[in-house]
Amino acid sequence: MVSEFLYERLHHNLRLLKLTTFESILDNHLEIAIKEGRSFMEILDYLVDQEIQSKEARSQALRMRIACFPFEKQIDDFDFKYQPSLDKTVIKDMTSLRFVRNAENVVFLGPPGVGKTHLAIGLGIEAIKAGFKVYFANASSLVEKLEMADNENKLDEKLRNLSKFHLLIIDEMGYLPFNDYGAHCFFQLVSRRYEKAATIFTSNKSFGEWGDIFKDHVIASAILDRILHHCVTVNIKGDSYRLKERRRQGVVQIASPCVIQPEPQNGKVLSRPGEISLP
Ligand SMILES: Nc1ncnc2c1ncn2[C@@H]1O[C@H](COP(=O)(O)OP(=O)(O)O)[C@@H](O)[C@H]1O
Ligand SMILES: [Mg+2]
Repeated sequence: MVSEFLYERLHHNLRLLKLTTFESILDNHLEIAIKEGRSFMEILDYLVDQEIQSKEARSQALRMRIACFPFEKQIDDFDFKYQPSLDKTVIKDMTSLRFVRNAENVVFLGPPGVGKTHLAIGLGIEAIKAGFKVYFANASSLVEKLEMADNENKLDEKLRNLSKFHLLIIDEMGYLPFNDYGAHCFFQLVSRRYEKAATIFTSNKSFGEWGDIFKDHVIASAILDRILHHCVTVNIKGDSYRLKERRRQGVVQIASPCVIQPEPQNGKVLSRPGEISLP
């Protein structure tokens, strides 16, 4: 039978073209469409559209896996009322992802638990939804990997791989100091991305203390100079969200957390006096 042959060939070719959604819903949809008297154009349009939607969902899921987020929290999950020092409009503005398109940087500074990593991941997820490639890394393990790559004469390759990401999130700058070698590798990374691709940094250390992270103040200022040239710094001054629940249960009484005072730098600052300060 010709029609049976055509039917088999159509399914075979759709599989060959990897149009898996189109192929899997074809029979069912054709039946419904014929019953409802839909035109060929409508049927084709629907099937192609479903294929595109499922392809985009799959590629978004893949980008999420590649990003290696330690947890998945969105900007909408963030309780801005709990952090009154944080200007919600500044964060909402960042979700436009202009900073990613313009290869600019964002730095979240503040004591532990105020939501720096949450906000960085939230912006990362927005970037993934918009089709960008994102990678999340802890600062110390990233530097360790760069050092290892350099040992194997593969630093250039590693940096090239990292430069494929439109947005790199470097979390927890300053929890552990870098040695001279690590600082040198980190400088290479920052120089490579400078004005080419966006980076978000989070740190519990003020810019003035970054010299201690790198031990060498000359390399620290060379790194900061590049990071802050096109950068928005968000300084979060508030209580740890982790203590919220424990406080509610009456378990902890804590003193106010230390407030980070950023050093004057040449970066751009979005400011509400005393809240988010320009570096
Ligand atoms: N304002 C907030 N609203 C909702 N969840 C928050 C808020 N701040 C922090 N959290 C949550 O508290 C935990 C600690 O936040 P995190 O972003 O890791 O803090 P930091 O990186 O500043 O140490 C995470 O589970 C995060 O989702
Ligand atoms: Mg964190």
